[in-house]
Amino acid sequence: MPSLFDPLVAGELKLANRVVMAPLTRNRSPKAVPQPIAATYYAQRATAGLLITEATAISHQGQGYADVPGLYGADQIEGWKRVTGAVHEAGGCIVVQLWHVGRISHTSLQPNGGAPVAPSAITAKSKTYVIDAEGKGEFTPTSAPRALNIEELPGIVSDYRKAARAAIEAAFDGVELHAANGYLIDQFLRSDSNQRTDAYGGSIENRARLLFEVLDAITAEIGAGRVGIRISPVTPANDVSDPNPQPLFNYVVEGLARYGLAYVHVIEGATGGARDFQQGDAPFDYAALKSAYREAGGKGAWMANNGYDGAQAQQAVASGQADLVAFGKAFISNPDLVRRLREQAPLNDWDQSTFYGGGERGYVDYPVLT
Ligand code: PHB
Repeated sequence: MPSLFDPLVAGELKLANRVVMAPLTRNRSPKAVPQPIAATYYAQRATAGLLITEATAISHQGQGYADVPGLYGADQIEGWKRVTGAVHEAGGCIVVQLWHVGRISHTSLQPNGGAPVAPSAITAKSKTYVIDAEGKGEFTPTSAPRALNIEELPGIVSDYRKAARAAIEAAFDGVELHAANGYLIDQFLRSDSNQRTDAYGGSIENRARLLFEVLDAITAEIGAGRVGIRISPVTPANDVSDPNPQPLFNYVVEGLARYGLAYVHVIEGATGGARDFQQGDAPFDYAALKSAYREAGGKGAWMANNGYDGAQAQQAVASGQADLVAFGKAFISNPDLVRRLREQAPLNDWDQSTFYGGGERGYVDYPVLT
């Protein structure tokens, strides 16, 4: 029986164990540049089998929150090089999560103060995080988006491709395509946020088109074995919904099977919330989702996420339900989470007030076991 602490090869990624650090927004990158302290933060957690960075914007247009990092400027790539260098020095493996927020943004964060972009001009009932003129951070409602012109979509695909290239330049081991949590790609997938009448809206095939065009581009650029993807079939995060998520996401994973990806990362339920959260008429069947992927020939590692404790994670891996399990908040407060899980040691509590923004406190000062 496989254990959470066994090594795993996922595509081109060689992982020391099955414990993954989930992507976690920390808002500590002024002007979208990761600071030296980010290298300390990630290196402290390098005993994870895989580190997934915080969501990282592929373009200025893809930015939706103050002080989140990017991967489209030379200074950003230099900032990330410090992170990958420190993680590799510590023996870890790290991928960067590629992010376009779509409508979850604010005019003050967009090029020339313009409207955020979306599949359709529908404002999300959601908030974003901005910094006011006095330098104070606050949550504020997202701005009304404009619908993307079909002629603009190749430019967005190209931005993803360039960001994947930049990831390799910054010495990342690979990338994770963020197709979850109500951001741009998920906005296209879900019928509530996508009311287009062109080739990118309507049928499931059309709504998934952008996702596959982006995957075509980034796998051609850096090789599918260095690419993972994150999906969240029923999450209501950022005001997305779909009345019929099972056929939609079964279609998505069957399409993913043809690439030879490193992994498929699935958020079960409401992101950061209830695992049994339901959209549509029936509970979502994650085992059926995984079977659909395997039956279509998908060989990537299957990564489960959302509220697993150590025992549940061990059980998920031992039973074959998942190959990898991602932990979020527990990794913020436990840099040595792998050791603590292995030894069944108590975990440090996290301090929610230091999740977003700030400095060292709540970032690089959580204690490890001695
Ligand atoms: C956030 O910044 O709050 C955030 C970012 C990416 C996610 C979820 C939440 O996938």
